[in-house]
Amino acid sequence: MLENQQTLFERVGGKQAIGELVDKFYDRVVADPELKPFFKNVSMDKIRRMQREFFSAALDGPNIYTGRPLGYVHHGRGITKHHFSLYVGHLIHTLQGCALKEQDVQDIISRISTYADEITGDAASGG
Ligand code: HEM
Repeated sequence: MLENQQTLFERVGGKQAIGELVDKFYDRVVADPELKPFFKNVSMDKIRRMQREFFSAALDGPNIYTGRPLGYVHHGRGITKHHFSLYVGHLIHTLQGCALKEQDVQDIISRISTYADEITGDAASGG
């Protein structure tokens, strides 16, 4: 019972655990031949830093996200639903390697999937 009262941020293990999660997750993302090209000319250090913030905030952690709005950042990059699925697939695999309960993994994926339209919103119009 007590477990369910914890935020997702706490269930993952807090700030340090989320930092490690984001690092492992992005190692997988940039190793994917279909996703790699999107990250060619961008600062991975900055993405990792912003993603730590974003994930912590999205999972109800104590911080706020100070990066740019997701729709703005991803607009015009031609990111399709297919790319989004690949990306989420890497997140699932990363979470499954993190000693979390299956329910926690599903809760995190549901939470992150709510941002799909902001990321892929312009893909149909070619950006
Ligand atoms: C729910 C899924 C996603 C979330 C929550 C997310 C979140 C973020 C965040 C927080 C940033 C940093 C924003 C900033 O610098 O102010 C970022 C940057 C970026 N994301 Fe995503 N992202 C997602 C999916 C994707 C996907 C699927 C791709 C490509 C296939 C992608 C490509 C990029 C790129 C290229 C940047 C760098 C933009 C720049 O530095 O100008 N993202 N993302």
